[in-house]
Amino acid sequence: MNEFPPLKNDLILRAARGQKTERAPVWIMRQAGRYLPEFRAERLKHDFFEICRTPELATLITLQPIDRYDGLLDAAIIFSDILVIPQALGLSVEMLPDKGPVFLDPLVVPEDIDLKLRNKVDVYQELGYVFEAITMTRKALNGRVPLLGFIGSPWTLMAYMIEGGSSRTLSKAKTWLFKYPEESKRLLQKITDVGVDFLIGQVKAGAQMVQIFDSWGGELSPLDFNLFSLPFIAQIAKRVKSQLINDGIEPVPMTIFCKGSWYALESLSNIGYDTISLDWTIDPIYAKNITKGKVTLQGNMDPNMLYGDHDTIRASVRRMLEAFGTNERYIVNLGHGILPTVDPENVRVFLETIHKVGLELNNN
Ligand code: CP3
Repeated sequence: MNEFPPLKNDLILRAARGQKTERAPVWIMRQAGRYLPEFRAERLKHDFFEICRTPELATLITLQPIDRYDGLLDAAIIFSDILVIPQALGLSVEMLPDKGPVFLDPLVVPEDIDLKLRNKVDVYQELGYVFEAITMTRKALNGRVPLLGFIGSPWTLMAYMIEGGSSRTLSKAKTWLFKYPEESKRLLQKITDVGVDFLIGQVKAGAQMVQIFDSWGGELSPLDFNLFSLPFIAQIAKRVKSQLINDGIEPVPMTIFCKGSWYALESLSNIGYDTISLDWTIDPIYAKNITKGKVTLQGNMDPNMLYGDHDTIRASVRRMLEAFGTNERYIVNLGHGILPTVDPENVRVFLETIHKVGLELNNN
């Protein structure tokens, strides 16, 4: 194992483990990205996946929001993408400006599972660059805040691998679920196996907490979510934790974010995750009642709220902190990724208010 500088701020790890915190910790989904001019400047010079594959560049960009909002963010998230797993499985993906991800040769029929995907994936060979980036970033952070790793959920990645990019209806991916349910499960299992190895490698490389993004979870009916997403998400938490213990490594806290899957909150609180990330359509009190303190809650301000004026942002933060509580089982975040045209100064107001109101509510 690597030797890393001692951690100076462990608020988010304590919150995830259910320990008390002086104030609610905060980070922002997609905090290293397009709303930052310093990120856009790097993007003019480099292709998106070139940045992901170059540890020095991934480190530089991971640190951009940490440096800009010095002392205001309580975690860094490694700069990478959920689509590196489909790449590791053998598919080619490009990130086109204004269009997003495009798969050059997506999966079309179940036979493609064997024709287009690698049978076995050695994550150290295919994704070693992410592990290197994590280790380098962890050293560069110098213990300022914990470093988060992540993967996409099996269902969300399956959807991208079949749709070939972003899609409004997910008709192609859902056709697989309803026409070829067994083959779909085979594909989901294949992605799960790579995801488990990849997360374990991330933790061994230095990730101190990890998040699974099921960005398309809410596109499924509750029944289909229980068939095609939940079992694989559950498997990931169980296998990652037990394998780390077997390897003599303390498991790190794990967060699950199923966007839109409000109906699954109770199930998600019972499958081994420490934290559930909520989108903005879920009422904080409802979420607390249904999860009964078994997990830490993360979220959930509407990302568009950052287009409001400063006082509106402050009022929204205060409401959110009052509802979730600030010193137990709560991590502040947005309900989805930050949007590219948000003013970075509004983000500063968001973060400063979380610190100020968090301490204030805790002292009352
Ligand atoms: O959070 C971070 O700051 C770390 C880096 C990170 C990125 N993508 C960088 C990125 C993370 C955690 C992701 C996760 C991701 N990627 C998700 C799950 C979260 C979510 O938003 O639901 C998804 C669905 C993807 C797939 C993806 N990557 C899409 C659909 C797009 C295009 C649209 C968009 O949001 O920008 C990307 C591109 C991407 N990933 C960018 C960044 C900084 C912008 C790329 C560019 O510069 O052209």
